[in-house]
Amino acid sequence: MSLRTPCGGARAARTGGAPPIRHPACLGADGSDDFHMIDIHCHILPGIDDGSPDLQTTIKMARAAEADGIEAIIATPHANLTRGRPTPDAIRDLTAQVNEALSREGINVTVFPGAEIALSDDLQQQIEAGSVLTLADRGTHVLIELPFTGFPTFVPSLFFNIQLLGFTPIIAHPERSAAARIDLELVIGLAHRGAQLQINAESIAGREGRAIRKITQTLMRKDLVHYIASDGHGARHRPPRMGYARKSLRRLGGDHKFAELTFHNPYALLRPTERGRLTADKSSAQSPRP
Ligand SMILES: [Fe+2]
Repeated sequence: MSLRTPCGGARAARTGGAPPIRHPACLGADGSDDFHMIDIHCHILPGIDDGSPDLQTTIKMARAAEADGIEAIIATPHANLTRGRPTPDAIRDLTAQVNEALSREGINVTVFPGAEIALSDDLQQQIEAGSVLTLADRGTHVLIELPFTGFPTFVPSLFFNIQLLGFTPIIAHPERSAAARIDLELVIGLAHRGAQLQINAESIAGREGRAIRKITQTLMRKDLVHYIASDGHGARHRPPRMGYARKSLRRLGGDHKFAELTFHNPYALLRPTERGRLTADKSSAQSPRP
């Protein structure tokens, strides 16, 4: 399996094969405005959470993403670990089905499996049990959503323990969390101790209001943001688009920073790892397919 795909090259197999991602060296090499992006947070899988309700909507979302210059999406359905749903294998299977549908439709977007994990005090045990799907199934990064109300005191020690296990926590849209409203230093402290931050394109563009935009700007100025993602939920409401946020970074690092947060850093998440293969095998072994 290789990620080295020449720009404009033939499309690789969508399921399990090499993703058709342009090599970072090719990004912007032609001097055009044609940016290529990878969206690491999107609710594109159909009928599994509050995102896309059906395959038709999923296809529309993928078309919108492709038109925006997004070449790959990590599907991140809300995962409720206390209820055990959806299982990692269910997400993997649905991702494969979506990729087959996108192939049939001729849409050049590849979807990878992932999950947005709601914070819980047993998250460490769930990770150790292999029941948490990592981003792109690589066994390295876990996308975690902090509560919208309150900031549990166990969060710093939980993150520390997750990191001790060898995983990197990525905080999904921290600018929308209660922690940011209570005291942004709570988020900054987690970032300084190794958590990565993913902000929403809508937030940095000001579509979620001034207060949230100001938080994203503060995090950007402190150079603590690793990713911009769409957190797309549908074809009309919050579609998977990020390109419009590019101009919002004009004074925050410009196009170079935009490329870093929407392509280079996300691209690094897609690198196959031996550990990811082992994690996937372990999870499959625990949840045999029918
Ligand atoms: Fe989300």
